[in-house]
Amino acid sequence: MNLKQMAGYEAALEIKNGQIVGLGTGSTTHYFIEKLGIRIKEEELDIMGIPTSYQSFFLARDSHIPITTLDEHDVDIAVDGADEVDPDLNLIKGGGAAHTLEKIVDYAADKFLVIVDDSKMVTKLGQTPVPLEVIPSSSRMVLNILKESGASPQIRMAQMKDGPVVTDHGNFVIDADFGLLEDASKLEKELNSIPGVVENGIFSNVVDMVIVGSDEGVKKIRP
Ligand code: A5P
Repeated sequence: MNLKQMAGYEAALEIKNGQIVGLGTGSTTHYFIEKLGIRIKEEELDIMGIPTSYQSFFLARDSHIPITTLDEHDVDIAVDGADEVDPDLNLIKGGGAAHTLEKIVDYAADKFLVIVDDSKMVTKLGQTPVPLEVIPSSSRMVLNILKESGASPQIRMAQMKDGPVVTDHGNFVIDADFGLLEDASKLEKELNSIPGVVENGIFSNVVDMVIVGSDEGVKKIRP
């Protein structure tokens, strides 16, 4: 079993019968969703999932997890991956351009679990750029504001199509390199005040537990 799989499978064991579960996006949550589907079938559990992207929607459907929406249900627990986790359990997310809906679902959840392999644990956020989902027509203005603030921003380009990445909501993603983040919580709020920014990938002060897959086994870290 690889490290992401260890974390994902362990998180699936945290889910209780009757819960509404936020289904995160990415390669680590892939294992979580897969295992949750197996548990629902084998244990005949009454669980519904709220996907955070088309990727997790398709995977949940293929795993026979009943789907619901935020319009119909509150979220008991959300499980999601991360690109970076700092010692205070603040995150950078959005490597898969899904951070807007992830943030809506993860912040709405009564309990938020993060699943990572130990390569994601950092002493300070900012080793990777902060992703911002932006309205396409605002992108030049947002780039200018970010440059004026000292960041190095660029529009994320697609690998399998010509031109930019387009999110599930039809927007662009700007990856903004701020260097190491001195105050992640402050920056999270500031970035969302730029006109045209829909949501940024800093998740501060919201995590209840991080499940880390490592060569020494699974570790559970609480704030
Ligand atoms: C999706 O946009 C991201 O927030 C992912 O949750 C994050 O990038 C972690 O992905 P992996 O589990 O694939 O590393």
